[in-house]
Amino acid sequence: MVSRLGCGLKLAQEIPVSDITPQTLATLISQREFSITDLNNTSASQHLSEAVKSIQPLRFILPKNNFGLSPVIIARNKIDELFVDQQEKKVYRTIWVHDFEHWIKKDRGLPFVNPRSGMLPPKIARSMVNLVPGDPSGKLLIDPFCGSGRILVEAAQLGYKVVGTDLILSQVEAAQANLKFLDLPGEIFVHDATHLSEKFTNIDCIVTEPFMGKPNLRPDQVDYAVRGLGKLYLGCLKDWYKALKPGGFIVMVFPILTGLKREYSTSSVIDAVKNIGYNQLTRVTYARPEARVRREIIVLQKNNKNL
Ligand SMILES: C[S@@+](CC[C@H](N)C(=O)[O-])C[C@H]1O[C@@H](n2cnc3c(N)ncnc32)[C@H](O)[C@@H]1O
Repeated sequence: MVSRLGCGLKLAQEIPVSDITPQTLATLISQREFSITDLNNTSASQHLSEAVKSIQPLRFILPKNNFGLSPVIIARNKIDELFVDQQEKKVYRTIWVHDFEHWIKKDRGLPFVNPRSGMLPPKIARSMVNLVPGDPSGKLLIDPFCGSGRILVEAAQLGYKVVGTDLILSQVEAAQANLKFLDLPGEIFVHDATHLSEKFTNIDCIVTEPFMGKPNLRPDQVDYAVRGLGKLYLGCLKDWYKALKPGGFIVMVFPILTGLKREYSTSSVIDAVKNIGYNQLTRVTYARPEARVRREIIVLQKNNKNL
């Protein structure tokens, strides 16, 4: 289940213990190596590990921080990883780490990878698809700004029937090649996202990261660019209302751009579309610490009045 979610890196389970001593911790180790992270004071991990080693003479690896060891180290070695919370008197054991090879392959190993076109990290694409409520099997999911097809890949792997469109032929060809590389079905063609309803009606869901402005916008250009993006998004949301089935969902990225004196959010168009007949269900913000553009991910539902 956690693999399917996409956003998880590591999962630890609480182990019931009567007390936290080196002796009790030693009984929890059965692999060739172990690692103990003191959650309240990482620098105390070494002392604790040495005390356990005096009982269980095995190699230990020290954590760098209270996240413990990296998933790569855990997956490549046979290690019992324990976390100790002395204050709460709890011990946890790592029981799952993400399949980093799977995600790296999708991040960097696809035939078409172009960071300048604003490629979505695959784990974020997977999480966006997961924000659509309900069972994916056989439902129609469209990404009208599909770029190299990151969202389509994740949606097809989860069981959606996928369609992608993009204004630029080379992007359409990239998305087609990426899906084909992973042996995934999908229909992808050149089309303007603001006219989706000319081709489709009764869509179950739209999941998309739209055009977010030219790469390397100067801060003094942001104010003007954001007004243009607002018009584009509003046009799309009005058109997609006609293309979606009643109760259908939109999961869409709204960029937050940094201008000369302040940040500009593009999600204010949501207030305008609420009158058209969408309800906002969820809003989350995603950004890497060093990112120039932050992303608000918003889930809208078309109202059910036509049902
Ligand atoms: C931010 S990128 C999407 C990237 C994609 N999520 C990925 O991971 O590869 C936005 C895409 O929208 C396309 N685009 C811009 N304006 C469009 C429009 N009016 N209709 C359809 N696609 C458009 C661009 O060509 C670009 O590929």
